[in-house]
Amino acid sequence: MTDMLAETETGSQDPQPDAGAADLLLELRHVSKIYGDLHAVDDLSLQVPRGQWLSVVGSSGSGKTTLMNIIGCMDTPTRGSVLLDGRELGRMNASQLTDIRKHVIGLVFQQFHLIPHLTAIENVMVAQYYHSMTDQKEALAALENVGLAERAHHLPSQLSGGEQQRVCIARALINHPELVLADEPTGNLDEANEQLVLDIFARLHAAGTTLIVVTHDAHVASCAQRQILLNHGRLVGEKLNAAGAGRREKDMLDFGQDEPAAPAGDAFAPGGEEAQA
Ligand SMILES: Nc1ncnc2c1ncn2[C@@H]1O[C@H](COP(=O)(O)OP(=O)(O)OP(=O)(O)O)[C@@H](O)[C@H]1O
Ligand SMILES: [Mg+2]
Repeated sequence: MTDMLAETETGSQDPQPDAGAADLLLELRHVSKIYGDLHAVDDLSLQVPRGQWLSVVGSSGSGKTTLMNIIGCMDTPTRGSVLLDGRELGRMNASQLTDIRKHVIGLVFQQFHLIPHLTAIENVMVAQYYHSMTDQKEALAALENVGLAERAHHLPSQLSGGEQQRVCIARALINHPELVLADEPTGNLDEANEQLVLDIFARLHAAGTTLIVVTHDAHVASCAQRQILLNHGRLVGEKLNAAGAGRREKDMLDFGQDEPAAPAGDAFAPGGEEAQA
């Protein structure tokens, strides 16, 4: 039984042009972010099928946040290209990028970035305002969806860390983004709140949202369908999780697998050049 990916889309291989291109939401081609001598992201190629739940793991400084900022249109690569829905971000002007940030991407940070003098519901409505029009009913429904309807009129300072994180998630989801990027979304949470966030992600995944979640937590990582491992900005390994919450038949086909993938916890298959060795 092949329980790991036998090959990777990473490293020196060029992405295959016919590899299910219609189903790819995101594609990175040889992306690097270079600060002086430091390659924060180093020649990274990656394909993310639409609807996939992907986790990104790696030690501190391995380039996870830099990668998320590039995917989230908040930073640009020094080299390489990023394609979202087949469109190259590097060819877009500022207003097109703003549109993508508003309409396609939802961001969840470890630091919640809630506006301190606005209540939970007002924080959610700010995101609506930047997207289109505010709608209090819809904002309340979004808070209800993350179990916070009763806390809607509290200020961030009157909410626990887990509640603030859920407001942040409600805000990220209010405009129904196709791609949710979460950087350490459970880093500050206890187990119960972590589970609440994972349940929200599982529901999003079941509804077809693509999720990319940076985490240091092995359990959170294992809830995704697929994990990639970064080291010094390079993609050095990846694996599929059978236990991933919403793993679907389709993903096995996307990767040419004909048998169930390995249970979570198995070692990473080497990525990049290591895979060739
Ligand atoms: N603006 C910058 N200028 C110079 N170096 C930077 C800049 N931003 C990030 N770096 C460096 O790039 C590397 C990757 O940083 P990044 O924040 O992506 O790591 P990370 O994997 O998210 O780490 P952590 O798990 O601690 O959040 C680090 O060595 C960091 O110091
Ligand atoms: Mg980081």
